[in-house]
Amino acid sequence: SGHFTYDPGFTSTASCESDITYIDGDAGVLLYRGYPIDELAEQGDFLETCYLLLKGDLPSGMQKADFVERVTRHTMVHEQMSRFFTGFRRDAHPMAIMVAVVGALSAFYHDSTDIHDLHHRQVAQIRMIAKMPTLAAMAYKYSIGQPFVYPRNDLDYAANFLHMCFAVPCEEYKVNPVLARAMDRIFILHADHEQNASTSTVRLAGSSGANPFACIAAGIACLWGPAHGGANEAALNMLQEIGSVDRIPEFIGRAKDKNDPFRLMGFGHRVYKNYDPRAKLMQQTCHEVLAEVGAKDDPLLDVAMELERIALHDEYFIEKKLYPNVDFYSGITLKALGFPTTMFTVLFALARTVGWIAQWEEMIEDPKQKIGRPRQLYDGKTKREYSPIASR
Ligand code: CMC
Repeated sequence: SGHFTYDPGFTSTASCESDITYIDGDAGVLLYRGYPIDELAEQGDFLETCYLLLKGDLPSGMQKADFVERVTRHTMVHEQMSRFFTGFRRDAHPMAIMVAVVGALSAFYHDSTDIHDLHHRQVAQIRMIAKMPTLAAMAYKYSIGQPFVYPRNDLDYAANFLHMCFAVPCEEYKVNPVLARAMDRIFILHADHEQNASTSTVRLAGSSGANPFACIAAGIACLWGPAHGGANEAALNMLQEIGSVDRIPEFIGRAKDKNDPFRLMGFGHRVYKNYDPRAKLMQQTCHEVLAEVGAKDDPLLDVAMELERIALHDEYFIEKKLYPNVDFYSGITLKALGFPTTMFTVLFALARTVGWIAQWEEMIEDPKQKIGRPRQLYDGKTKREYSPIASR
């Protein structure tokens, strides 16, 4: 049966038609619905980006207000869900918790699981965008043994999230607007990235008719891996391991050595063979955050900038078209915002949820889509006879 195309890793197979996100990897271009990522990140905000990804166009003032109002109305999660969290070991990884609690939403919100009903789907979309920050913050609070903090609907999306993560009952907590703006921008940069592994997972799960919460849980599981959403954690660990500027040449040497499995984390990308446009914005956001929290002299930033400078001038990296990707600076930035590394991928999942749900909706509405069912090239045993266990 050799008539199937063999394409492991899907490097040359388009699985769908999509009008959501455009990437030109050679030119280093990323557009959401036609808008350059840097214009959205510099001039817009995350909920506007959500509206854009879901509906196809930027909202008018009234549409935006209505959308924000609807998201805000759904920020609370059912009180019973808190028992889900407390069922976990107290040192559970927050991503393990997220896979479970997001999947569990389908057991709580029966009025938004019918995928053939447009109203159900729209409510599910809003619920997911609204509840992800609440669930992510609860996973964090649980992991550090602090009480859950309820959402505050007078705050905007990113500020409310920081509040739920960092406020404690015993003292006053005021969200720093510079940090909230940085958080919001990080969400915009991660909102969608066309048919990456986790998005493809969501589509494949959804192609069977599974409910949207279950599909997003599948996407979160896929995102967890270090080659995907876990790379920012790996990049920060690497910078910490390098530790000081004088040790950079040693690590560059290792990255180039064919016999050494070490890779420069936060460098290289399957699609971008040029500077990842998100990396530039992340670098700028990183500087702003470090200045604001008074960590301008963070030695990790010096290591990162020098590493980038040397790699961009090194023949090996030039020839293989390896540039910093979005994860190179996000680790330092998230650390400065106060998050432990175990939360990094959770933040990515929070932001990517809108992309997953927009792609899922596009698939549901596409009459050409059918259940995803790849074929294989079988290279196992040919037919043979069963032998009873006594004679084996
Ligand atoms: N450091 C050193 N060499 C590298 C690196 C790196 N970071 N990335 C790729 N190479 C080399 C690789 O050894 C190979 O060399 P050769 O052709 O001589 O065998 C060549 O470049 C092509 O690499 P590949 O692994 O075949 O390319 P890929 O498209 O399968 O992998 C990647 C892309 C992102 C997995 C890879 O570049 C990598 O492992 N980077 C480090 C991890 C990372 O930063 N991941 C985040 C990706 S962006 C965010 C996300 O998707 O979640």
